[in-house]
Amino acid sequence: MQPLRIAVVGAGQMGAGIAQVAAQSGHTVLLNDREPALIERGIATIRKNLERAVEKGKLAGEVRDAALARIAATPALEALDVDLAIEAATEHLKTKLALFQTLDRVCAPRAVLASNTSSISITLLGGATQRADRVIGMHFMNPVPVMALVEVIRGIVTSQETFDFTDTLARQMGKTPVEVRDFPGFVANRVLLPMINEAIYAVYEGVASVEAVDTVMKLGMNHPMGPLTLADFIGLDTCLAIMEVLHDGFGDSKYRPCPLLRQYVAAGWLGRKTGRGFYTYGG
Ligand code: CAA
Repeated sequence: MQPLRIAVVGAGQMGAGIAQVAAQSGHTVLLNDREPALIERGIATIRKNLERAVEKGKLAGEVRDAALARIAATPALEALDVDLAIEAATEHLKTKLALFQTLDRVCAPRAVLASNTSSISITLLGGATQRADRVIGMHFMNPVPVMALVEVIRGIVTSQETFDFTDTLARQMGKTPVEVRDFPGFVANRVLLPMINEAIYAVYEGVASVEAVDTVMKLGMNHPMGPLTLADFIGLDTCLAIMEVLHDGFGDSKYRPCPLLRQYVAAGWLGRKTGRGFYTYGG
């Protein structure tokens, strides 16, 4: 695959990870977010990750420098001469719809528009554009540089050409793409989030402590992180947003978000990123 020009919209933990992997795979990355400071923070995270790999002897210094040189901060979403835009903004429908309208307007006609959404309908996002055939889901897992999976989600209008392009790119980026149809939560979060929600119910109902629930799943099921540690890692606001999409999308009460999850989000206890969720984090 020829090196591409890729816009990554959203420089948070997912967007920064996607930008890093794309740049390490030889592509030019235009990194955008609402404010320049957020882009700078994203680039600082990428620099730190690459630095750590160099220190461990897993990456040559020149490779780090070349990857960083391929990433440009792009504060304005206008006239983007790109082959692909990957949207990795907050998991909020109105925000994503507005971004897709903008990307459709400002990206070159050839560009594919991909969303890293964890649960929102790709068909709906495609409907906000004049190029629904070139809109697709490209759902990376967190932490992006480490996790091998990319769910590739076809909206009902997504063309075969767009699917093939995305599938090939994911492989070229060293990931394993899995084709998934456009239903709420796709596969990853349809299976993962009800487990996390149930773990929260177990705490809410006093069945066991946070630590005990996590220990059961780590030692009993060999999960690398317990579900509540993982919820803090994903972000409790994102967990709630995904449960809402499952609940609304299927209209099935088995997906009702746990009231304790709602309460934590209302309190601003969003997990690692705010220093407090089911656990507290220093620094
Ligand atoms: N960014 C980049 N690299 C990271 C990282 C990060 N945030 N965190 C860890 N790493 C790297 C480390 O540098 C290390 O790399 P090397 O092997 O090259 O040295 C490697 O990952 C292992 O890290 P550690 O030894 O520090 O820690 P660990 O062995 O406990 O692994 C983990 C950390 C990979 C995060 C592991 O705990 C894990 O797999 N957790 C589960 C993650 C998971 O389930 N992710 C999916 C979340 S759901 C999602 O993303 C979808 C959604 O829509 C919500």
